[in-house]
Amino acid sequence: MTRQILVTAALPYANGPLHIGHLLEHIQTDIWVRYQRLAGNRCTWVWADDAHGTPIMLKAQAEGISPEALIERVKASHEADIADFLLTPDVFHTTHSEENKELAELIYNRLNEAGHIVKRTIKQLYDEQESMFLPDRYVKGECPNCGNADQYGDNCEICSATYDATELKNPISQVSGKAPVMKDSEQYFFALSQFGDMLKKWTTSGTLQTEVANKLKEWLDSGLQDWDISRNAPYFGFEIPNAPGKYFYVWLDAPIGYIAAHKHLGDKNGFDFMDTWKPDSDHEVYHFIGKDIANFHCLFWPAMLENAGFRKPSGVFCHGFLTVDGAKMSKSRGTSITARTWLDHMSPEYLRYYYAAKLSSSVTDLNLNLEDFVTRVNSDLVGKVVNIASRCAGFITKKFDGQLSEQYPTQLQAHYDQMISAQQVISDYYEQREFGKAMREIMLLAEHANTYINDAEPWVKIKQEGEQQTVQDICTVGLNYFRIIMTFLSPVLPELAKKTEDFLNTTLTLEALQQPLVNHGIKAYKPMMMRVEEKQVQAVLDATMAEDAANKAAAGTATSDTSLEPIMDTIDIDDFAKLDFRIAKIVDAQPVEGADKLLQLTLDIGLEQRNVFAGIKSAYEPADLIGRHTVMIANLKPRKMRFGLSEGMVLAAGPGGSELFVLSPDDGATPGMRVK
Ligand code: MSP
Ligand code: ZN
Repeated sequence: MTRQILVTAALPYANGPLHIGHLLEHIQTDIWVRYQRLAGNRCTWVWADDAHGTPIMLKAQAEGISPEALIERVKASHEADIADFLLTPDVFHTTHSEENKELAELIYNRLNEAGHIVKRTIKQLYDEQESMFLPDRYVKGECPNCGNADQYGDNCEICSATYDATELKNPISQVSGKAPVMKDSEQYFFALSQFGDMLKKWTTSGTLQTEVANKLKEWLDSGLQDWDISRNAPYFGFEIPNAPGKYFYVWLDAPIGYIAAHKHLGDKNGFDFMDTWKPDSDHEVYHFIGKDIANFHCLFWPAMLENAGFRKPSGVFCHGFLTVDGAKMSKSRGTSITARTWLDHMSPEYLRYYYAAKLSSSVTDLNLNLEDFVTRVNSDLVGKVVNIASRCAGFITKKFDGQLSEQYPTQLQAHYDQMISAQQVISDYYEQREFGKAMREIMLLAEHANTYINDAEPWVKIKQEGEQQTVQDICTVGLNYFRIIMTFLSPVLPELAKKTEDFLNTTLTLEALQQPLVNHGIKAYKPMMMRVEEKQVQAVLDATMAEDAANKAAAGTATSDTSLEPIMDTIDIDDFAKLDFRIAKIVDAQPVEGADKLLQLTLDIGLEQRNVFAGIKSAYEPADLIGRHTVMIANLKPRKMRFGLSEGMVLAAGPGGSELFVLSPDDGATPGMRVK
């Protein structure tokens, strides 16, 4: 029976361009979808922009346009990027659509009728001048814990305390610049707390990666809170039925957007989307998402679906985050690369292949190492794969009138069969999202093909009397190997596959591989793929930095991380002597429960170990820090924090967020050495 598979990728926010971090997910999804289609399954990819929420509303306001105009413009840019990165969704819709409004209301009404929606009055900050309740990130004030000024309404960047926006001292609205007032506000909650048992069962039933299930278990074990699904006007979204002035929170209608996009496609193509979404459907549904939005997809979403009479997903596939040269993407370093900037300088297939070569089914982050990228693309794609064709094609065109041998050489048939038998293991790898392993298998085939040609030496034999048939046979075999390899690579490299089809004058399908291509005319060979040059990579980085500088200039802000503040006060040498800086080895690094910004570091400074809380979580994965040497100030008075005692500080540079760089000594410095 043909499998009927529905696939989604997360819906990108319609407030900015796609970047290479998003593309990691999109390329992963596209390769899987294309593989399923190649394997003969019915695979539909429904996708859309996520068009609602406060950031979109405020961005439109700042630009002086309507949110509708903003989301339309961004959608057009996303669509262009999608096409040019060779992504093949069957539909790219928007959550700001009739279908989505209808379905969001339907699902909400069903939840409400079943008694799963509860109303509660909570206190919220209200901007009287703008007549709006303020979301957490739109209010700043003094931290209720440490008193530092200029902190957001959800947590403190200085002491990492987390709190409610209503606890901020002297809050200021970021919208009007005025002090907000406290106001009672009635909100609608989805009674998630009722579904703990169902979710415990579902999350451990094999639908999720083990790592994700374990992470969610922490939440589930500590008990789920009801979920506030309403926001006050003004809000760009759908108004809640029978609740004037209340809107669905963007995360309520965003995943419903998957179904709405599917409905849109069904209405156009004449099928019923409910065949897939009814509770007992035998279709499969998979969501590709990043690890940051796992709770929405693995807790809230299945609970909503189950209680509104829809089926739950068959699987949620989480991926890790993209780092570039080992660090989070950074605008000022030029690594926060948009899809368009990449396309301006390089082929999308280079990135598709590099991601494929590094992707696995795990949730670990994936690093784009730019040097390795150049080497890998050139040596694998140009050096190994395309090389096979370019070495064989010339002889066929020039000496054999474009004709492959009439018969496949009998003594090599076994080899051919062996080559195509790799299909089993490669297919399994694709199916399991082990693309890196699939690429390695395919490259082994390419190495084998090159070895065969090297050993057979057609360029020597062509000059020998009576060896003409041998040369035609060698090239026929080589080109058949190329055909096999390109068929296996076609989900990753669709453009190269298309050029191959044109050149070999055939269609690349798995079934067709059962018979070697013989007694068949091919076209003259044209170069299929250029080597990637380091200067192209540099051009992308330069363009990204230039865009960043231009954006900052337009916004009227200086680049905080490159401009030096004037140094006003000087210290004398005795002050300096008081500071005890030491080389420290990071022997352990752990996230701190309840602190978004902090890592708990265990630092070895020779004779003792220190426990230090450092506000660097936004820039580092804990595991990447372990084993590194850094510099700490060792005689800072220990400070009691909410999470424990902090015995010193590590040194880091940068404006904050993802752009923080822990200092490292040169090789040779050992723990405990004094820094002077
Ligand atoms: N709009 C929500 C998703 C709603 S789905 C019903 C959203 N949008 S997003 O634009 O912020 O992110 C879209 C997807 O891109 C998410 O799966 C997110 O994890 C992924 N990524 C965003 N930045 C990324 C990296 N740097 N690396 C890898 N994936 C990244 O969340
Ligand atoms: Zn604080």
